[in-house]
Amino acid sequence: MSQDNTTVAAISWTGHGDGFLTLLDQTRLPEAVTYVNCDNVECVWQAIKKLAVRGAPAIGISAAYGVVLGVRDGAMLPSGAAAATVEEAKQAALAACDYLATSRPTAVNLFWALDRMRGVITTLDEPSSGRVGERLLAEAQAIHEADRLQCAAIGRHGSDLLEALGSGVGIVTHCNTGMLATGGDGTALAVLFALSERGMKPQVFADETRPLLQGARLTAWELMQRGVDVTLICDSMAAPILRDGKAKAVIVGADRITARGDTANKIGTYGLAVQAHYHKVPFYVAAPTTTFDLTITFGSDIPIEQRTPEEITNAFGRRTAPEDVQVDNPAFDVTPAELITGIITERGVISPVTEEAVRAMIGA
Ligand code: MRU
Repeated sequence: MSQDNTTVAAISWTGHGDGFLTLLDQTRLPEAVTYVNCDNVECVWQAIKKLAVRGAPAIGISAAYGVVLGVRDGAMLPSGAAAATVEEAKQAALAACDYLATSRPTAVNLFWALDRMRGVITTLDEPSSGRVGERLLAEAQAIHEADRLQCAAIGRHGSDLLEALGSGVGIVTHCNTGMLATGGDGTALAVLFALSERGMKPQVFADETRPLLQGARLTAWELMQRGVDVTLICDSMAAPILRDGKAKAVIVGADRITARGDTANKIGTYGLAVQAHYHKVPFYVAAPTTTFDLTITFGSDIPIEQRTPEEITNAFGRRTAPEDVQVDNPAFDVTPAELITGIITERGVISPVTEEAVRAMIGA
């Protein structure tokens, strides 16, 4: 817990194309800072599935590195043996893309990153399977670096916007959207870090974020590491905080944003948006353009991940509900565009949130 943020990298690669991926194991935070080293694709799949690495951009970046591991992973080929030729290396990498795509369904960054890797694989003209690994590593690193820069730009645009609320302003956030969830400083948290760096002293109310406590375990930890004022609240505290004027804005991240701006994010986000609307508090979403899915118009078409009942009945190793009780445990909900004041992207702020404005900022 005493570890300095500068020594903690959520995602890192060691070596060349034949190297390995290291992920900070977020399931152990804040109790322990431990790492998972992956040298095969299944290890990355498992890390994504069990939330050792999580957050939409971080999932996409990790999967891209997972594809690099696929090149020499015998399990990706019908023969079970490591690729011996360039063609086999390409086949294994494509199989890795297909396999990693089954890890989690909601964050579109995963599919965006895998599509980008597929695009490289299919146009490869490398002389050896080793060179295939190098080329795919370069692409994964480019995805990683681009996300870092996007986070910084989101921080700039968002702090330009929220600075107007004044110094010491209270801001509610939900789930974790910081450096643990991205390749850089984060999305919603990047805005809060940037505000803090500008001397605006934001007072952050971090929802604990049931059932897996990403807010309590991860967001509170990250903000404290960076010296940002944070008060941890249980999710049901947000409404009275907004009613009492203790917070003047809400800012959250996103897992998938449709063409009309409907936004899937961690379960509880929609309720928070309704509360903000009722109390006339602006509600912002911060996300890179890689989180937009313009093939979908309405939020009702976003695939929502169902997770195991045990996350609610037996989370963190203690039974907290009767055995065999029926459970509904969607990981995400959808906030309609009408409840979103603005979407902060690396290109600028979309506000008001309409299909026309989304398409103008993001593309066709
Ligand atoms: O289930 P998780 O922890 O992956 O959910 C993460 C979120 O909902 C985040 O808010 C979202 O991915 C944005 S991360 C910058």
